[in-house]
Amino acid sequence: MWYHRILLSVGICVLGKVSNSLAASGPQHGKVVVCYLGSWSVYRPDRGSYTIEHLDPSLCTHLIYSFAGLDIRSDRIKPLDPWQDLTEDYGKGGYQRLTALKNKYPHLKVSLAIGGWNEGSVNFSQLAASPEKRVKFAQNVVAFLRKYNFDGLDLDWEFPGQRGGRPEDKTNFLLLVKDLKAAFRKHKLLLTAALGAGKDTIDKGYNVKGISTYLDFIHMMCYDYHGAWDRKTGANAPLRANDELNVEFTINYILKQGAPPHKVVLGVPFYGRTFVIDSPRPGEAIPQLGEPASNGFQGPYTRENGFLGYNEICLELKNTSANWRVHWDSETQTPFAVDEDKVMTYDNEQSVAEKVHFAIKEGLAGIMVWSVDTDDFHGDCSLGDEESFVNYPLLRCINKSIDKSLRELENSIIHGREKQSNTGSVNSLSCVGLLMVLVKWFV
Ligand SMILES: *[C@@H]1O[C@H](CO)[C@@H](O)[C@H](O)[C@H]1NC(C)=O
Ligand SMILES: *[C@@H]1O[C@H](CO)[C@@H](O)[C@H](O)[C@H]1NC(C)=O
Ligand SMILES: *[C@@H]1O[C@H](CO)[C@@H](O)[C@H](O)[C@H]1NC(C)=O
Repeated sequence: MWYHRILLSVGICVLGKVSNSLAASGPQHGKVVVCYLGSWSVYRPDRGSYTIEHLDPSLCTHLIYSFAGLDIRSDRIKPLDPWQDLTEDYGKGGYQRLTALKNKYPHLKVSLAIGGWNEGSVNFSQLAASPEKRVKFAQNVVAFLRKYNFDGLDLDWEFPGQRGGRPEDKTNFLLLVKDLKAAFRKHKLLLTAALGAGKDTIDKGYNVKGISTYLDFIHMMCYDYHGAWDRKTGANAPLRANDELNVEFTINYILKQGAPPHKVVLGVPFYGRTFVIDSPRPGEAIPQLGEPASNGFQGPYTRENGFLGYNEICLELKNTSANWRVHWDSETQTPFAVDEDKVMTYDNEQSVAEKVHFAIKEGLAGIMVWSVDTDDFHGDCSLGDEESFVNYPLLRCINKSIDKSLRELENSIIHGREKQSNTGSVNSLSCVGLLMVLVKWFV
């Protein structure tokens, strides 16, 4: 019988190789790269418009379609833009176009996100408070996901216990997660959630240890730490700082609360914040973050004051009639750019690489990005420079940095072992020496 097993494994191996060579593959580094896609980004003007066909699934392990809504009257998940999401009435069939990418890229897992900022908190609070509603919702979600060939659900309740929610939300969110997982298990559906990064949001909203039991991955939204609402300039996503508003604090805090590192995914923003400072700084003074400021300008694609996609930021920086100067803030490990009274704080390849390095060092599951539709997906910022043309610079930077950080980590472990074995050989040398002394002494 044993040779049957061997033949079977050889067969599976060969078959695996063959089917691998037919299919396009994904990242080989073994970490997750979770790519969120905002379905409304298709409505952005000109080259800001992003369709599912712009995706490069070879750079992601997971795709998440954002957002579906919650119908609290019938305890169902519902499409928010039926024409864009579905095929009925000559719709564009976004759900099915996205999940069909799995045919060519079998490594992909595709989830649907429910919630987001605009969904608010009140209806989620109602749903989670009722055992009957939770169970009914879970059954409906399973049918809905299966209908469109999704692999899972991503919960984006922003945020339990806030924005009209109630204190019991924290416990009820855990119960909602538990009931969903119970319904998902049989169908092997993934259950993930996007969690807010602030200490207060975590304390009010999440029984971290409890939800970690049932969630497959925890997507930490490590951004929006600072913006014009502070009335001063600040980094959107500082890696470090001397207060609690930074990536390292958030990740350390969530780990301390009992989230296992192999389920925690570090969120990285593909966007930045803009500001207009109140008083022009004197002559040659080196600009720093923390200057009094009000809400900044908008970009041609995202058209929201105080917010710019990375694709808009990199174009701004290339504008020769503007006068942007890029500075590196060593405290937060992020760049910021200044042109007279205008300031942009954002993430570039350097700061993204630092974040990836941190995530790998902490043994996290991988990286999440919000969102692929504001990376320089056309490669417009490297145009006119055919030698170095590259699209998706930030997503590619994540792919490379994960590999690099993993190798560095591996080297430092091997290095550690070498040190140990060196001391080992010193010990054995001195043993030999002692033996020789003994032999001499006897002879
Ligand atoms: C919550 O549900 C009610 C009733 O269906 C609906 O009118 C309202 O728009 C929902 N809230 C949000 C923020 O969607
Ligand atoms: C370039 O900068 C100038 C001066 O700030 C501005 O008027 C112009 O609209 C910008 N061009 C583009 C393409 O953003
Ligand atoms: C991802 O990075 C690896 C290692 O640097 C590289 O070999 C691979 O081509 C990259 N993948 C893509 C799609 O760029």
